[in-house]
Amino acid sequence: MGRFRYPQPPAWEITPRPVFEGRRRLLQVAAALGVTLALPRRAPAAVGEGPLAGVPRGPYATDEALTARELVTGYNNFYEFGTGKDDPARHAHTLRPRPWRVRIDGAVRDPLEIDVDSLLRPAGLEERVYRLRCVEGWSMVVPWIGLPLARVLRRVEPLGSARFVEFTTLHDPEQMPGQARDVLPWPYVEALRLDEAMHPLTLLAVGVYGDLLPNQNGAPLRLVVPWKYGFKSIKSIVRIRFTETRPRTTWNQVAPREYGFYANVNPHVDHPRWSQARERRLGEGLFAARRPTLMFNGYAEQVAGLYAGMDLRREY
Ligand code: MTE
Repeated sequence: MGRFRYPQPPAWEITPRPVFEGRRRLLQVAAALGVTLALPRRAPAAVGEGPLAGVPRGPYATDEALTARELVTGYNNFYEFGTGKDDPARHAHTLRPRPWRVRIDGAVRDPLEIDVDSLLRPAGLEERVYRLRCVEGWSMVVPWIGLPLARVLRRVEPLGSARFVEFTTLHDPEQMPGQARDVLPWPYVEALRLDEAMHPLTLLAVGVYGDLLPNQNGAPLRLVVPWKYGFKSIKSIVRIRFTETRPRTTWNQVAPREYGFYANVNPHVDHPRWSQARERRLGEGLFAARRPTLMFNGYAEQVAGLYAGMDLRREY
């Protein structure tokens, strides 16, 4: 039994709690973000019917077919809620994504601790339709909504000595029951080199399919780094820290041979236990031909320059 931190409003007894909370949250957040529901849409605009459906579509969109919403929000990796693909959708209702504070600190001139909606309000959200390639060998095409991470990072004025940016997920076994188990060292931590973090493809996502992020997708705030394996795209972030040395990251720490720090999608560098040359696009059926995996997940034109001169077989 969870311990309630505040009394339950009677409304919850009439309206099922998830419905009630979902509806209230959507309206509150739409208001907080200054999204006007009745605005005429600029085309092309974010797909879906939710409060974020009208935001403009940003650059880099792939024109591949979107993966069905039921798969994007129903087939997840989020070990804080269990290791099965349907565990996050079934169990993540215990996460309370608002109110939510985010700390941005470390090697910066102007550290910040701020409510997630205040962080986003002046930002100008956009839709980014990106491929997502999981290290396990499956992929999706996802209509994220968010803002370039660089815009948030510039606000705190990184010092010249900053070289990396570290991201940390909430650590609260009460909200994230999977953290009571020893499957990973908690909290989940990821990191990028500063130039990767500042790259215009790198997104801080707050929504998907025109709605706020469902809890199972990493509400209220998650990273999306489309040219890297999905485990770099850390969910439910509470802290962003600039560092001078390379941070220790969760999967790299657990199994460094299997999960490199860079984790760039690369069909030529196999996982020790399976080939990375091909991938299964979710929704295409178990018997559909597997697709060839693309270098940098198809974003080589944008990001290959970040790795010029590096031996990607060694620094994977
Ligand atoms: N972030 C946290 N905190 N915990 C996780 O278990 N899983 C990662 C990543 N971010 C994970 C996480 C992995 S392996 C993938 S493939 C993506 O989230 C999946 O994102 P999605 O469920 O939104 O598709």
